[in-house]
Amino acid sequence: MNPLTGARIILGVSGGIAAYKAADLASKLVQAGAVVDVVLTRGAAAFIRPLTFQALTKRPVHDDVFEAWTEHSSGHVSLAAEADLLIVAPASANTIARLALGLADDFLGLLSLSTRAPLLLAPAMEHNMYLHAATRENIATLRDRGAAVVGPERGHLASGAEGEGRLSPVTTIIGAARQLLGRAGSLAGRYVVVTAGGTQEPLDPVRYLGNRSSGTMGFALAQAALDRGAAVTLVSGPTRLQSPVGARFVSVQTAAEMQNAVLSATESADVLIMAAAVSDFRPATSSHQKLKKSSLSDGPTVQLVENPDIVGSLIRPGLLKIGFAAETDDLLIHAAAKLHAKGLALIVANDAVATIGRDDSQAVLIEADRPPTVLPLLHKPDLASRIVDRIGELLQEVRE
Ligand code: C5P
Repeated sequence: MNPLTGARIILGVSGGIAAYKAADLASKLVQAGAVVDVVLTRGAAAFIRPLTFQALTKRPVHDDVFEAWTEHSSGHVSLAAEADLLIVAPASANTIARLALGLADDFLGLLSLSTRAPLLLAPAMEHNMYLHAATRENIATLRDRGAAVVGPERGHLASGAEGEGRLSPVTTIIGAARQLLGRAGSLAGRYVVVTAGGTQEPLDPVRYLGNRSSGTMGFALAQAALDRGAAVTLVSGPTRLQSPVGARFVSVQTAAEMQNAVLSATESADVLIMAAAVSDFRPATSSHQKLKKSSLSDGPTVQLVENPDIVGSLIRPGLLKIGFAAETDDLLIHAAAKLHAKGLALIVANDAVATIGRDDSQAVLIEADRPPTVLPLLHKPDLASRIVDRIGELLQEVRE
């Protein structure tokens, strides 16, 4: 399950032009199922109206500096106690300084001292302010106290300058929030390596032998493992997908490169999930120059050699290996054979044509000593959740 679902999040918005982006962040958090209480600093209220957030979150917005001393005097205490996460986005230089000092003369200051929820800061400011020693030291102080910091990023700033100071994209802030909320989850302390996408085997510098895998399933599995507190390395063939926030991302092209990456990443791993569509064969030779039509005129032939079976040949005691079987016929028979041949704890079997490149999939989970679990048609993130939950149980069984 997505750790944002049902999470109580306080979104502190401070004064800066990026405050308008906090509206999108609030909206996306709500869409992900979080209950969001927005607190505006005095500076933020100059940039954006509370009504915007009220409409998006369907909850009252706290923007009154004196609220804590009036009839709502216990408001910040209960809000602070119920919060699972405090996000400050954008975090201005002023708000960062105030949080570092522990000032409590506004609602956000009161809340941040009262709550024991983790703090996620997304700084945004003019780059000279960000690079100033005072700001750097204040951020370092907050980090030392356990705050997570996302961004800022380099790029166009409202001043017209280019530099480090842009608020991280909303998707990045949300990814960091997921990771913080999930950190005590069922895979906390575990290290999971996931492979994703299809490999590409070059014929020449511009052509390759490949497949239609989009990487969606592997990326969803990496996110699901992060959501449950695992440390994750994602080894992926070429894809346009964004690596989930918090994953160590290793980009590869060929099966041989993927094998090397998997070998080194799994040295200390608990789990390997091979969701990649690894090319079983590669061209025996790959030309350094682009092949010309004239040189192939008497009927091109491509000689193929077999690639190593990455998961099948990997023998590491204690490593839980999970594989996938995308088949076009006799699904369960072929998948069960691969489970045994490759020494897998679990294989996820599905119909190749109905799955590859799609957003949803109907899968069967097959293990050696258990009847198959037939899952309904699910969106790949939901399927990934089911698979990763089962992996958590398997790890538990090994431990017991
Ligand atoms: O044999 P087949 O390719 O159908 O097996 C699928 C499973 O084996 C997947 O988990 C896939 O990632 C993995 N595999 C591998 N190395 C290969 C081919 C497939 O690890 N060369």
